[in-house]
Amino acid sequence: MKRQACAILLTILIVASMSIAPRAASREPVRARHGMVASTSEIASRVGVEVMQRGGNAIDAAVAVGLALAVTWPAAGNIGGGGFMMIRRANGDTEIIDYRERAPLAASREMYLDKKGDVIKGASTVGYRAVGVPGTVAGLSLALERHGKLKWADVIEPARKLAADGFTMNYHLTRGLEGTSKLLTQFPDSKRIFLRDGRFYQEGERLVQPELAETLTRLKEKGPREFYEGKTAQLIAEDMKANGGLITEQDLKEYQPAVRKPVKGTYRGYEIVTMPPPSSGGAALLEMLNILEHYNLAEMGPGSSDTIHLLVEAQRRAFADRAEFMGDADFVKVPLEGLISKKYADDLAKTIDPNHATPSEKIRAGAPAGYESTQTTHFTVIDEEGNVVSNTYTLNGGFGSGATARGTGVLLNNEMDDFTSKPGVPNAYGLLQSENNAIAPRKRPLSAMTPTIVMKDGKVWFAIGSPGGPTIINTVLQVVVNVIDFGMNIQQAIDAPRFHHQWMPDRIAFEPLGINRDTRSALEKKGHVFAEKPGNMGDAEGVMIDLKTGMRLGASDPRSGGVPIGY
Ligand code: DON
Repeated sequence: MKRQACAILLTILIVASMSIAPRAASREPVRARHGMVASTSEIASRVGVEVMQRGGNAIDAAVAVGLALAVTWPAAGNIGGGGFMMIRRANGDTEIIDYRERAPLAASREMYLDKKGDVIKGASTVGYRAVGVPGTVAGLSLALERHGKLKWADVIEPARKLAADGFTMNYHLTRGLEGTSKLLTQFPDSKRIFLRDGRFYQEGERLVQPELAETLTRLKEKGPREFYEGKTAQLIAEDMKANGGLITEQDLKEYQPAVRKPVKGTYRGYEIVTMPPPSSGGAALLEMLNILEHYNLAEMGPGSSDTIHLLVEAQRRAFADRAEFMGDADFVKVPLEGLISKKYADDLAKTIDPNHATPSEKIRAGAPAGYESTQTTHFTVIDEEGNVVSNTYTLNGGFGSGATARGTGVLLNNEMDDFTSKPGVPNAYGLLQSENNAIAPRKRPLSAMTPTIVMKDGKVWFAIGSPGGPTIINTVLQVVVNVIDFGMNIQQAIDAPRFHHQWMPDRIAFEPLGINRDTRSALEKKGHVFAEKPGNMGDAEGVMIDLKTGMRLGASDPRSGGVPIGY
């Protein structure tokens, strides 16, 4: 009898504890005691873990992962692009290495317009004229120099070896290559290296990249400046010249990454440490979180029409501000403090009608436009000491401009499209942008990349980021809200269906199976309009620390086959 009572009590306790920690149908985060890497490529995640096992810290691992992804995830991993690395040291110091591409010296405000002043289709997205001066090698090496323990030659070696020996291609890579074949076919080196001259690679086959291996060998032997002043620089500049591109040896020689402080805010008592200009991501994220603090989202629940309505209303307001105000703050005035102030959010929250969508034209004038998602990649690393790296970098579109610099194996970005080609004309992501983001020599194009760290009581709780162009900001927003408001663990928060509104076009982008019919019709009754077709968004890669036990929890997005690995 007594035993039976015990069993009942135990059952009640188990059920009660389950109701405290609700479990949506997601796999558990990967758990490890010492360190963790979450990236979109299993091979690159393993490279990072091996670097830490050899005595490297999170920064050493992050640099090795960044270089390895340039080999194993050529859609976005790169040495021909740029990005942002947020580094939080175990001692609490936080800084960002901004290695965003810069406009070449010969770039000009109207370089993508024809004689009539119209935007020339494809000019800022395809081929050599679309390329910004790459920052990745300079950025990664600066991060290593300032915070790493290992030598450059040691952290570049795994990437060199992967390029020289090859690696087994997975489904996501072969599908991506075939899907981008129209772009890559236009450039002979890209066609030969990535499309095998039209005999598409199949998953399970090996990709060997001898030219890239040679470039990485030069960088290993001669150091990172080789990319900017050595044979690699020369090869890039020659290929540029031969194909109408603007980047010269001088552009490469002059390229410098910037060291920046993060922008910070709070959300329901948690500290949000995020990305300042030249990204719009941090400001927009904080603006939206400040607005959402006015509402009890936990009570409304994840995926409810009330929750989606409020997030969408916050999103359209923040994206309207992004379009108007944001640009490279080294060149133009950005009202950052105002945008992220609680007072400003109080005023914006008052303009939200709980029962009706605010048409985007009423927020600010603009023209509807298309929206498509391509590629970028994020990875997150934590080590045993508690150093954390949250890094997003990109070629912009999937496989960038499509051009591989002859003789280098290096795919070049098309980041110039992130500038305003012409105010009022949408870019590849359908984003409208202002004069603040106009093209100028040496300027960095406005980004949406949002590497972010969330702190609890002064300690790192989790780090997150994602690709997805403008959807990046809303992906990060939803992961933060899913964890803080809805009590999801990091994997559940990443798995949960996403939606996205970017002010213009005035419609909600949503994921397949991401929204049920009742919710959709409740939102339509409020006046919301949905995109014609659903599509996946983002590829978030996160780590979280179990603050009670110190265990490292890793979570990769199921959308692109990422794998977290710990040790
Ligand atoms: O910096 C930016 O905002 C864009 N170049 C990012 C592009 C991107 O995320 C594409 N990925 N899906």
